[in-house]
Amino acid sequence: MALIAEHVPLRPKGREHVGICPFHDDHTPSLAVVTHKGNAFYKCHACGAAGDAFNFVMDYHKLTFPETLKFLADRAGVTLRPRRETARSGDQPAGDELRRANSLAAEFYRDFLTHDRGGESARAMLRDRGINEAAAEQFMIGAAPAQWESLAGHTRGITTETLVAAGLLKRRPAGNGQYDTFRHRLIFPICDELGRPIAFGGRCLDAADEPKYLNSPESPIFHKSRTLYGLHLAKRAIIEAKQVIVTEGYTDVVACHQAGVGNAVATLGTALTADHVKMLKRICEEVVLVFDGDEAGRRAADRALAIFFAEPVDVRICILPEGDDPADMLGRTGGLDCFRTMLDAAVDALEFKVARLRQDLRETRGHAGRQRCLERLLSELAGLGFDRLPGVRKRPVIAQLADLLEVRIDDIEQALPRRSGSLRSRVEVKEVPDQATSLWTEQADVPPARRIAEREILAVLIYQPALRHHPVGTDPLADASITSRLEPQQFMDPVLRRVAEAVWTWLVRDETFTVQQLMSALDDPRLRSLAGDLYLEAEQRLEAGGQSPAEFLRDRFDALDRLSKRELYRRDLAAYRRSRPNPVGGVAVIEQMLEQRRKQGYIPDALPMRIRP
Ligand code: GTP
Ligand code: MN
Repeated sequence: MALIAEHVPLRPKGREHVGICPFHDDHTPSLAVVTHKGNAFYKCHACGAAGDAFNFVMDYHKLTFPETLKFLADRAGVTLRPRRETARSGDQPAGDELRRANSLAAEFYRDFLTHDRGGESARAMLRDRGINEAAAEQFMIGAAPAQWESLAGHTRGITTETLVAAGLLKRRPAGNGQYDTFRHRLIFPICDELGRPIAFGGRCLDAADEPKYLNSPESPIFHKSRTLYGLHLAKRAIIEAKQVIVTEGYTDVVACHQAGVGNAVATLGTALTADHVKMLKRICEEVVLVFDGDEAGRRAADRALAIFFAEPVDVRICILPEGDDPADMLGRTGGLDCFRTMLDAAVDALEFKVARLRQDLRETRGHAGRQRCLERLLSELAGLGFDRLPGVRKRPVIAQLADLLEVRIDDIEQALPRRSGSLRSRVEVKEVPDQATSLWTEQADVPPARRIAEREILAVLIYQPALRHHPVGTDPLADASITSRLEPQQFMDPVLRRVAEAVWTWLVRDETFTVQQLMSALDDPRLRSLAGDLYLEAEQRLEAGGQSPAEFLRDRFDALDRLSKRELYRRDLAAYRRSRPNPVGGVAVIEQMLEQRRKQGYIPDALPMRIRP
């Protein structure tokens, strides 16, 4: 009963306890919990839900059987041992130790936030962002002191070994002790689905510090691609709303929950992965991706489409006006209405793509041009796995396209390429190998869209070195070849940069090269294998038809160019925000905003739209 009482308020009634049933829309307490005569079960008189502690946990949290077992064992303080002891490499600290280290640190940071003087700058940042105490408490927000050895001096029985493995401390060279990873930062604990801290995100308190956000490294208990910030708090609301809102940042999640939008989570500085979607589709039917700013959103929409094709979930895309994010929006008067309206108006990922085609078509004259436009879209769709969709999901899209292009549905079906590249390798960034050295872990700070653009440019150049002469960019300079527009140093991803450096040695000498030559120029075997992957990726992508290699290169270069501009813009965003007067919410503003969106082609005209009074 204690277990159920943790989840549902219960009151005694006779020999039983009763409460509001969490398994249906209950208004009278229909849930009875029976604990006498050696019994221990619950039953809802209205919806018929019934079972023991096990069933309750499984149903309430939508966990699988093994997860439930783990949940109950953790709760009871029992450690389950896998029957086959899985080989742990060397003397790596076990998950439980890492969790203890993270809990200790969470407590330490939490305490420091309340520290009179030390915590003031962090509290000021929370105030500045309109995050109230209840929300800070709920999310266990804390602060790391501006010192090198504060957590390092409060390790209370947890070995240095473990703290280092958890990424909380770093070792100084030559055995000179350890220092704190997180210093002078606002701390957002990242929790597992049971609400236990497994990692941290730290935002710098001093704008001059780099990076703006620092995350714990991956560890046996923390995998970025499988973790969503705030999921433990959002799960219930996600299940109820049958919908999850995926934002880009910690502050967005906190602001959403504080404003009553409880089904919000965030990815940890990466795009949504297939693993995330697998987790989410168990508990809801619809994923709404919220992006701040246009370019990243457009790019991300393609990835979302791939997810949509791979898993039977609905993915909708909500793009906020450039420079705005959910946290900003919710902080303004009328912001919640605004945000909800934007969410309601979020466009199905597929329609989003079609809306872009509509835009392209509007700008394209002549039959041949329009034909090319359509073909490009179709081959893109096929590349993302459109032809593998069941007919029910395909048909409306085809009908829309036919309508748009004033052609017959049959013509489109005929034109759809049959073959499609393997979804995985096209869409996802390759997982970094486990035995990551610093070179490979550094990648974490590159925006995913940027990494993809860099990767694809490099891939096509390896596939077809002759493209070095091909003009790219829109700047009307005399020499517009890729080598005069892009240098290896501009690759943000350190691994790709290494490969680019090698590639450029040929390109700048105006020489061509083979993949074998490239491989022998690379000293690290992983770089060699990457070079091979890149070649194969380009081959697979380009042989599928659609864009020619030259078009592809130009397109990817444009993407990189836009991303770089966005990066510049982001860096100066704080100044931009300070200079902007707070728009007051209200229907007029929302309508204006939606109109602007519609003009940009993000919201198909036909989409039913609701303006809340
Ligand atoms: P404020 O600027 O503090 O309002 O935060 P924000 O949440 O608006 O940040 P922003 O939109 O710039 O970033 C959104 C998310 O991207 C963050 O929550 C991080 O997860 C991630 N992110 C942003 N900057 C960095 C960075 O420098 N390094 C890493 N690893 N992640 C970042
Ligand atoms: Mn943001």
